[in-house]
Amino acid sequence: MSLPKKFTYEPLESHDDASDALPSYQPILEPYESRRRWSSIVMIWFVIQASNIILLSGGYALLQFTRSKSNGLDLDRYFELAEYNTTKYFMGNTDLVAHSPVAEQFWDRIQDSGGVVSIDTVWAAQHFAPSKPSPQNPDESIYQVDVFHTIHCLYRIRNRLLANTSLQPEIDTDGHTLHCIDWIREQVMCHSDISLRATDDFITFGDLSHGHQCRDHDALVNWIAKYQWEGHKDYLEMHHGTMFKHAMAASPVL
Ligand SMILES: *[C@@H]1O[C@H](CO)[C@@H](O)[C@H](O)[C@H]1NC(C)=O
Ligand SMILES: *[C@@H]1O[C@H](CO)[C@@H](O)[C@H](O)[C@H]1NC(C)=O
Repeated sequence: MSLPKKFTYEPLESHDDASDALPSYQPILEPYESRRRWSSIVMIWFVIQASNIILLSGGYALLQFTRSKSNGLDLDRYFELAEYNTTKYFMGNTDLVAHSPVAEQFWDRIQDSGGVVSIDTVWAAQHFAPSKPSPQNPDESIYQVDVFHTIHCLYRIRNRLLANTSLQPEIDTDGHTLHCIDWIREQVMCHSDISLRATDDFITFGDLSHGHQCRDHDALVNWIAKYQWEGHKDYLEMHHGTMFKHAMAASPVL
């Protein structure tokens, strides 16, 4: 019994001339031709790889350049200033709260910069709220390092206690001074000092011979000196002349 036609074995060659068969053209190259072909493929491959490397490294360099330009070494290691990397021994120096020229000089010195800095706007916007652009440099914005607001608040309270009149033009309005006390309370609670104070008598707690862990305030002052907005005092004098002079005059200078 013979199988139906579709099951019978037919060698492939019998379809070679079918209309849908792929052309079986294989160019026969001379050995020289073949080598030339391969060397140009290799050459093209190298050119593609080389241009990839050039493009990638160029792009990377450009990225680094724009980053370093806007970040300036992450604005000169700003975040490292947050480290508690110093030990301070508190002296409880009453001379510095007294009503004396030495104390005045001390307070003038620690507030000197006001902590007002002019820094790259792009960098600042990555970390903080937008602020007013510098009148001198359109690429920079003006900020105050917060601890200087706190120091100013403390100075104000001190003046209020030493002077016989309020710092405010309107006498008997100490709202601003009381705000300062609340501000300092929040700052103190924010930077809770966890040092353990020893006692001899269960009444006074005081021995702190091990010192306090502090941020390096001098390092902060140096950082501010680098970015300080030099024009701030002139700006205040020009735009708020009377207020500024009043604030200065209200200082209980002897
Ligand atoms: C604490 O860190 C700041 C920021 O890195 C640095 O400038 C300062 O020198 C350091 N201070 C000490 C005492 O190591
Ligand atoms: C404040 O008033 C007292 C007494 O009225 C006076 O002795 C003192 O010198 C005054 N202080 C200032 C800074 O004016």
